[in-house]
Amino acid sequence: MAEKIKVLIPEKEVNARIEELGKKISEDYAGKQVHLICVLKGGVFFMCELAKRITVPVSMDFMSVSSYGDGTSSSGVVKIAKDLDESLEGKDVLVVEDIVDSGRTLSYLLEILQKRGPKSMRLCTLLDKPERRVKDVHVDYVGFNIPDEFVVGFGLDYAQKYRNLPYIGCVEM
Ligand code: IMP
Ligand code: MG
Repeated sequence: MAEKIKVLIPEKEVNARIEELGKKISEDYAGKQVHLICVLKGGVFFMCELAKRITVPVSMDFMSVSSYGDGTSSSGVVKIAKDLDESLEGKDVLVVEDIVDSGRTLSYLLEILQKRGPKSMRLCTLLDKPERRVKDVHVDYVGFNIPDEFVVGFGLDYAQKYRNLPYIGCVEM
């Protein structure tokens, strides 16, 4: 069955905002190389679009985590399903996420990555639902703050569907 999807942020606005973030990140990392870490699968569309708009040297790595929970909320205990290929030692790391919701997954993940000795570590997310936060997570770059609604598109899924939508939409249940 197909759900009804209502456009929340049109494609043009998403792309314009990513352009701005790319510019800001390029300024902030001037003279450095930024090591982007994509949290699969949700972060992949955003990271690719962002990387294309960063003008300082970029390297990339990918990891996949699953968070134990009851399906609708994450517990904060994270299992690494696919680890990074490269070490973070001495690198200027920028973790790229699709969305920060409760913050449980990210706060656990950042703690693990911090122990691997990056020179610096920042967090960039396309979407943030600040109302939903239960774990404090410092987000350095945010695309859009959104209300507490379930969203899809630009990497975000509903039962593995809709990741390929070029805009951010709300699922009408
Ligand atoms: P949390 O911050 O630990 O609660 O979990 C964040 C993860 O939950 C994200 O990386 C997404 O995979 C998923 N998530 C949270 N909100 C949404 C949503 O509105 N749509 C799709 N996935 C979501
Ligand atoms: Mg995610």
